[in-house]
Amino acid sequence: MYKINFNTSEFLSTHWQKEPLVIKGAFSNFVDPMSADELAGLACEEEISSRVVITKENNWEIIQGPINDYEQFGEDNWQLLVQAVNHWFPDSAPLIEAFRFIPDWRFDDLMVSFATPGGGVGPHIDNYDVFLLQGEGTRRWKVGAKGNYTPRGGDTHTALIDDFEPIIDIVLEAGDMLYIPPGFPHCAQTLTTALSYSIGFRAPSQQELFSSVADHLLDTNTGLKRFTSTSEPVAASSVSIDHQKGMLSLLNELLKQPEQYQTVLGQLLSQNRFELDLCDPESPYQKEDLTDALSEGAEIHRIGGLKVIKLEGDTEQRLFINGDIFACEQLTSEEIEHLANAFIIDNQQALTLCGSSAMSEMFVGLLNKGFYYLA
Ligand code: SIN
Ligand code: CO
Repeated sequence: MYKINFNTSEFLSTHWQKEPLVIKGAFSNFVDPMSADELAGLACEEEISSRVVITKENNWEIIQGPINDYEQFGEDNWQLLVQAVNHWFPDSAPLIEAFRFIPDWRFDDLMVSFATPGGGVGPHIDNYDVFLLQGEGTRRWKVGAKGNYTPRGGDTHTALIDDFEPIIDIVLEAGDMLYIPPGFPHCAQTLTTALSYSIGFRAPSQQELFSSVADHLLDTNTGLKRFTSTSEPVAASSVSIDHQKGMLSLLNELLKQPEQYQTVLGQLLSQNRFELDLCDPESPYQKEDLTDALSEGAEIHRIGGLKVIKLEGDTEQRLFINGDIFACEQLTSEEIEHLANAFIIDNQQALTLCGSSAMSEMFVGLLNKGFYYLA
């Protein structure tokens, strides 16, 4: 179990999404949840997103995974980065749990890196919030002020920038953490061979929101109302200000209806950017299979990275899971709450919950989708 060693409510009101913060000893006696070998094992897999970044003279070379041979990189000046480790390495779940003082819908992924001395990805700016937690080894981090920085080489598609003036310059050791909100330039230099954990959080952009609204309208064949007007401009070639505003207010009208926007938000915010390691059963579970397994002591575990989201004030009693809607009319609010909150439902809790036939049907459905598994 990992327990954060600082006042999270104070952090949320003073630093979250505002200012970077160094938190020395954020985790006392920090023990890495994984080894460098286990990380390298994940980076061999085709479906797992990984890359090696090699530090060159004033430049960085990126080699996309899968990575099978590390001999070629030598002893220093390179770093392996693996995304969405929480999807593929269940033992990282307790570390993720420690960051649930921030809502699940914001959580993006756990990226783990193995860096050799001199290794780093170069100065860059991210558009998400990140907690950089140091495992074994030491790395020197620099963070600059928020501002207008030109992308490196004028390439607007790169997150890399030229160097910046640091406002933070700190060496992180095991258990230390650096929080960086979006927009603050940063870079690390590896001092001694290191494992680091980047816990990233992201919120939807206008582009993502608009395209989700459009998808929803097309899927449900709604939003068909057209603009009407009773007065027309004198010049045939002109679109009047009133008409421009009138057309846009059609959009506003639509976005004000909770039954429209809640479904859009629930589906969007419960999706995951990275592939999930679905646990499809060999043959579909029946209710009796679940009852038998629970009587033999099984627990019900959620697969890593699965988002189970509940909207406050929802117009329907439902959960959003991985972009889908799960109607929960037959479940009590306590049952829904439990399902949304628990990564692991221990045997005792599972036996109690499955006393309700609606709940055990729900679990059978979720097991058959590969979203949960029996352990
Ligand atoms: C790194 O570990 O060097 C990269 C992580 C980041 O900057 O987000
Ligand atoms: Co970064």
